[in-house]
Amino acid sequence: MSKKINLFAILVLSLMVMFTVSCEGPAGADGIAGADGADGADGADGVDANSNCLDCHSADRWDGIEGLYAISGHANPGRGLTYAGALDGCARCHSGQGFTDFVAGYTRTDIDEASALSCESCHGNHGVLEGDVDAPMATTDPVVLIVDPTMSIDLASTSNLCGTCHNSRRNGDYYATVDSVEIDGVMTEVGDGMMGISSTHAGPHYSAQLNTMKGLGGYGASSESTHATVGCVSCHMGESTDTQGGHTFDPNLANCTVACHSSVTDIEAFATEKHDATKARMDAIADALVTAGALSVDDDGHYSPAVSIVTDDVFEAFWNYRVMYQDHSYGVHNPGYYNTMLTTAEAKLGL
Ligand code: HEC
Ligand code: HEC
Ligand code: HEC
Ligand code: HEC
Ligand code: HEC
Repeated sequence: MSKKINLFAILVLSLMVMFTVSCEGPAGADGIAGADGADGADGADGVDANSNCLDCHSADRWDGIEGLYAISGHANPGRGLTYAGALDGCARCHSGQGFTDFVAGYTRTDIDEASALSCESCHGNHGVLEGDVDAPMATTDPVVLIVDPTMSIDLASTSNLCGTCHNSRRNGDYYATVDSVEIDGVMTEVGDGMMGISSTHAGPHYSAQLNTMKGLGGYGASSESTHATVGCVSCHMGESTDTQGGHTFDPNLANCTVACHSSVTDIEAFATEKHDATKARMDAIADALVTAGALSVDDDGHYSPAVSIVTDDVFEAFWNYRVMYQDHSYGVHNPGYYNTMLTTAEAKLGL
């Protein structure tokens, strides 16, 4: 029995020796800390990516823009979309799909269900996110005029986006090519010194704003508006209220006094007075054009082109009226040129 115990003890001891031989003893206490190293040079400040992105991409900011956009004409297009959104030659301005295709450089003719402009239609992708990041824009290229593709207009800003859709589809000289007009079911030849108004839609189209701002498209000496240097965006976007400015695209007149018209004390009254004075002259011209047979007027007092054959003089007055009516700024886009168009029309009609 004791022999067995001894043998077992020897075995345990020898195992202990085997293991303890290879073990180190406990570590000594830490030494005294060395002197601090010299400070490194400061690195250059980086861009605070997060706060820059949040200038635009915060929930508050985005919701605000969506709210303004929801009440805009672009988001609520009506007949312009349902009728023209998928039509060749119209879709480039009247639907999101048509515009995206146009900017990409091709024309699609198979839009099934046209949709209104959305954020993506005017914006698109950032591309790079270095440096100062601006809102990505679908296009800011100079605007090639539909009435004269050899001419392009550069507002040198995001306003070129607006001008891509807001430029005239026709000039008056198009109607010089009309050689006969159907009047009361009878095709009638347009004689020398006469012009044929061949459609109840005759005019530059409701997109005449860029041309008018540049003093183009009417009869009378051309003159560019000082407002051309302002661009569409400064007046139609800018600081917003709940119902105007920003992404409503409806001008917030308060922006005019901040930027330029600081001496005007009541900008609403100032604008209304100019609007009414222009409208009064336009209405007098329209009445004379009804008498001359170039316009017709309905019970609501709404004037539209009358299919007719008129003298050159009446046509020029008619055309200037249509440019102003379809531009629809009652002078703001180019006060001087409006005055020229009005004066020319009045003279042609003997007013
Ligand atoms: C160059 C761009 C452009 C093209 C091309 C264009 N439109 Fe328009 N159209 C506009 C703009 C811009 C407006 C509205 C401006 C405004 O509200 O003041 C408009 C307005 C309209 C309206 C609404 C007018 C109303 O009664 O309120 C209709 C309808 C319309 N267009 C039909 C057409 C048709 C049909 C075609 C093709 C034959 C066409 N458009 C081609 C830009 C365009
Ligand atoms: C009809 C074209 C158009 C549409 C549609 C549009 N935007 Fe814009 N947006 C612009 C233009 C132009 C600017 C640049 C304004 C400038 O140059 O000051 C802009 C600027 C912005 C900015 C930069 C900050 C600011 O408020 O100016 C943000 C963010 C923005 N848009 C978001 C949106 C969102 C979100 C939508 C959809 C709900 C939208 N946009 C729809 C034309 C559009
Ligand atoms: C001046 C305003 C603005 C700033 C600043 C901004 N964005 Fe945008 N961003 C937009 C607008 C506008 C859109 C287009 C939205 C749309 O089309 O629906 C957009 C789209 C995007 C998209 C989706 C499309 C794409 O480009 O891939 C991403 C992702 C994005 N932004 C990331 C960022 C980041 C990250 C930053 C910061 C580095 C930033 N944005 C700064 C306005 C801005
Ligand atoms: C893709 C073409 C397109 C672009 C880009 C575009 N618009 Fe328009 N805009 C239209 C059409 C089409 C209408 C008419 C909507 C309708 O009633 O069918 C319109 C209507 C308007 C209206 C009248 C809205 C109303 O309440 O009746 C204003 C103002 C306007 N646009 C200003 C602008 C400004 C400013 C820009 C640039 C920031 C711009 N648009 C960019 C096509 C465009
Ligand atoms: C100097 C400021 C200013 C500039 C620049 C400007 N607009 Fe306007 N625009 C206005 C005002 C103000 C009205 C409304 C006038 C009125 O009803 O008396 C208006 C009217 C319009 C209308 C008619 C809106 C409707 O209700 O039918 C359209 C469309 C339009 N502008 C688009 C544009 C486009 C596109 C550009 C650039 C090519 C542009 N504007 C440049 C201030 C401006």
